[in-house]
Amino acid sequence: PKRTVFASTAGIWRMDGDIPRTDGGTGRADGSTEDVALDPWGSASVGDYADLFAEFGIEAFDEVVDDVPAPHYLMRRGVIFGHREYDAVAEAMANDEPFAALSGFMPTGDPHIGHKLVFDELIWHQRQGGDVFGLIADLEAHAARGMSWDEIDEHARSYLLSLLALGFDPEDGELYRQSDNRAVQDLGFELGAKANFSEFEAIYGFDGETNVSHMQSVVTQTADILYPQLVDEPKPTVIPVGPDQDPHVRLTRDLATRVRYFKVTEAFASFELDDDERQLVRTAYDALTPTGNEGDDGSDDVRSAEAAEWLADYEPPAGEAGDALRAAKPSAVETLRAGGKEPLRPRVRFLDRNATEAAFEALIEAVDGEKRVFEGHVDAFELSRAEAESLAREVELAHDGFGFRQPSSIYHRFMTGLTGGKMSSSIPASHISLLDDPEDGYDKVTSATTGGRETAAKQRELGGEADECPVYELYAYLLANDDDGLAAEVYTECVNGERLCGGCKEQAATMMREFLAEHQEKRAEAEAVLADLDIDLDSDRRGTGGEH
Ligand code: TRP
Ligand code: SF4
Repeated sequence: PKRTVFASTAGIWRMDGDIPRTDGGTGRADGSTEDVALDPWGSASVGDYADLFAEFGIEAFDEVVDDVPAPHYLMRRGVIFGHREYDAVAEAMANDEPFAALSGFMPTGDPHIGHKLVFDELIWHQRQGGDVFGLIADLEAHAARGMSWDEIDEHARSYLLSLLALGFDPEDGELYRQSDNRAVQDLGFELGAKANFSEFEAIYGFDGETNVSHMQSVVTQTADILYPQLVDEPKPTVIPVGPDQDPHVRLTRDLATRVRYFKVTEAFASFELDDDERQLVRTAYDALTPTGNEGDDGSDDVRSAEAAEWLADYEPPAGEAGDALRAAKPSAVETLRAGGKEPLRPRVRFLDRNATEAAFEALIEAVDGEKRVFEGHVDAFELSRAEAESLAREVELAHDGFGFRQPSSIYHRFMTGLTGGKMSSSIPASHISLLDDPEDGYDKVTSATTGGRETAAKQRELGGEADECPVYELYAYLLANDDDGLAAEVYTECVNGERLCGGCKEQAATMMREFLAEHQEKRAEAEAVLADLDIDLDSDRRGTGGEH
C-alpha cells in the first residue's frame, strides 16, 4: 500500500495505506532529551518510544502485526507499539491453539480512558478465543500507595464494572483480587525463592528504605503474570500493559525460566558450549560432514580435534554477528582440541536445573532412542529440539513442577493529556474518567488543547497538526472505535486544512458525551452481573499499608 508520511515536528502519526498510525515514536515534539527509565511507580510517560527498543529490547509491534489475524484497531493504528514475544500468541491464535491474556489494575482512583485501552485489549483477546484474566492489584495499592482497604474496595468495584460494561465475559474468563487469590500468593512465594534483593535494587531502584510489603507486591505481580499457566496448562500468555510495567515482565520472563526443572540445549559432544561457540562448531561440523553421512554407524564421524583444526582457519563473516563469533573462536577451538578423538555427533541435551531426583530419573526413562546419561545431564540423539522441549515440560508437570513458558507482552502508548502535558489522574482536566458526567466529558473535550493554528485562515493555509493534537488522539484511541475511515478522515482533513478545531472538537465532544452516557448505562447493568460473581468487595481487612 502507498505510504504517505506527513512530516511534522513530532512525526507521531502518518498515513499507512488508509490508516493513520503512529510511527513507533521516532519524533519528540520539543526535541528534548530525557533519560529513558521505566518506573512502574513513577509517572506514566515516555519521552521517546523508540528508545525503548534499543535500551530494553522491547520489539517493534510492526514486525508482528501482519501475523495477527484481524488485528485490533489499537494495533492497526500503532497505539500498541511494542511487544515481547507476541509472535507466540499470534501463532496460537492463528492456529486455534490455547493462549491466554492477563492484566491487572491498581485500584488507586477512578477508571479512566487510559485504562479503557487495556480493558479493550483484554476483551479483544477474549473474543479471539483466549483465556482471559483481569485482576485487582489491591496488595500493591495498599503496600506501595498506602490506599486504605475501604478505598480499595470502592475503586476495585468501579474498575470491574467498567471492564464488564465494555464487554468482558466473566463466564468465560476470571476476575480476582490479589489478596483473595491463595494460589497466586503461593506461586509468588515459590518465585520469590528464586529472586533476591540485589536484583530488586537493580531493576526497581529499591533500597534500604523500601518497605518489605512493596517488595512482596512485586513478587505477587510475577505470580499474577504466570497464573494463567498455573490454573490450566502452560501456554502462550500475553500481558497487555503500558511500557512502565516492562520491568515486571522482564523479571517474570526470567523467573519463569529459573523455576524450570530442565534446560534444553544442543550439543555436539560431552563438552558444554555457549551459543556462539555452538554456532562455530556447527559450521565446522557441517563443513566436514559429507551430506547423507549423519546418523550412520559413526565410523567416519568427524573427530573433535579435526574440527578444531578446521575452525582455527575459519574466518567468520564481517559484521556484528561475525564479530561475536570471532570473539568466541579461540575458546571454541580450545574446547574442540581438548575433545581429542571424541566424535562430534549432534544431540539435544537436558541439563538438570532444579529437577527432583525422581523427575530426572523419569526423564531418562522417557527419552526415546539412543541416549547417554551423565552426572547432571542427559543427551538424546534421536530427538529434535522441539520434541525435547515438550518432553522436558511433560516430565516437569508430572513431577510437581510448573513447566512455564515465558510470558509475552504488548505495550501501548500513553495518551497525551487534554491540557497538553501528560495525562494525569491528579489533574482532572487532563483526563476523562469513565465516571465523568457526560456533560463534563463534553466540556473537557471542548476545552482541550489542540494542534490547531492561531487563526482559521492559517489553519486553512497550513493545515492543523493532528500529530500533536490530543483531540486527534481521542479519535484514534477511542472515539473512532473500529472505524479506520473516520480516523483517516479526521486526520487527513485536519492536516490538509479542511477541518477547523471548533467543529472538530464539537464532533469529538459529542461523541465523548454519547460514549460516557452509554458506558455508564452499561455499568449500571453490570452491577447485577458483578454481584453474582464470587469477588469480595467488602473486605474486612485491617491495617493502613505503606507508601512508595
Ligand atoms: N502493577 C500494575 C499497575 O500498576 C498492576 C498489576 C498487578 C499488573 N499485577 C499485574 C499488571 C499483572 C499486569 C499484570 O497497574
Ligand atoms: Fe486537532 Fe481537530 Fe484541530 Fe486537527 S482540526 S488540530 S485534529 S482539533
